[in-house]
Amino acid sequence: MLSAENPARSRSLKVIFDTDPGVDDAAALLFLNAYPSVTLLGITTVFGNADIDTVTRNALYLKKRFAISAPVARGAGASLSGEASLPPVHVHGQNGIGDIVVDQSGLPEPDARAAHRFIIDMVRANPGEITLLAVGRMTNLALALREAPDIASLVRNVVIMGGAFSLAGHNGNVTPVAEANMIGDPLAADEVFGAAWPVTAIGLDVTRQIVMGPAELDRLAAHGGEAGRFIVDTSRGYRAFHAQFGIDGYYVHDSTAAVYVVDPSLFEVRSGPVRVATDGVAVGQTIQRDWGIPYPPGEWDMAPDQKIAVSVDANRVLGMLVGTHIPCLPAL
Ligand code: BDR
Ligand code: CA
Repeated sequence: MLSAENPARSRSLKVIFDTDPGVDDAAALLFLNAYPSVTLLGITTVFGNADIDTVTRNALYLKKRFAISAPVARGAGASLSGEASLPPVHVHGQNGIGDIVVDQSGLPEPDARAAHRFIIDMVRANPGEITLLAVGRMTNLALALREAPDIASLVRNVVIMGGAFSLAGHNGNVTPVAEANMIGDPLAADEVFGAAWPVTAIGLDVTRQIVMGPAELDRLAAHGGEAGRFIVDTSRGYRAFHAQFGIDGYYVHDSTAAVYVVDPSLFEVRSGPVRVATDGVAVGQTIQRDWGIPYPPGEWDMAPDQKIAVSVDANRVLGMLVGTHIPCLPAL
């Protein structure tokens, strides 16, 4: 349950949601759409959990079904180096949103601008106000930076779901060291961490501490209205995927990053330059320099300090994700 004194409720947070829906992406979008203090300025799509046509269609479907006013801008269909890996259909289904039936009739048109151009225009029009929440490959953000480096000083902050920093034994989910959003476009991720804007990475180190379990799903199904039922319906296959690893429920990776945007007090963060390995056996690995340890001059020295999440109040995050759709019920 949200408390009445939650300071985040009183101010408006302007957010552009960069996403590859995606089962957990879709749930994060519904959370943002329902959260009182969030003003969603745009939804920008990027390849990842499905190809760019499919994730853009999914975003337009969500916009229509849930009457989301924010425009949808179609983004990159491949990484900066031109690669688009095979979609993880075993995780998100053939259609990216758990193979629910998607009614394609009467879908709205996407914005005429490419996603990175949309981001540039919106950031310039709202200096110092916009949070970029990126929960897919970082390609659109990197393209925006390349075309308009001035936006780095105009963005309020950048929050990403991505990375794995080997904290508390949490390593990669695609390779032993690489998380999916990072390995999907490691060069873009390295450029985003290296830019002079404030980035916070919500990585697997914390997202794997939050499991949407049977009790929460039952509650959403019974009391969460259209959004709650959608979350339950789209997550059946995603839940079965997690069951293979003995998890009774599933990780809410992208929603966890969305919660950070609205209430960062639920997280502990650590500062230091972050680099992403762009080739070799560790491609996609995210590494943060520890300023407490002296090293000879090297690649990290010029990179700006960025934040990574190192711990999270998992129960309160879960409570927000459920409670935002069921504001009248007491917490579990
Ligand atoms: C990330 O990869 C995707 O499968 C999810 O949507 C999330 O953004 C987790 O590694
Ligand atoms: Ca995602």
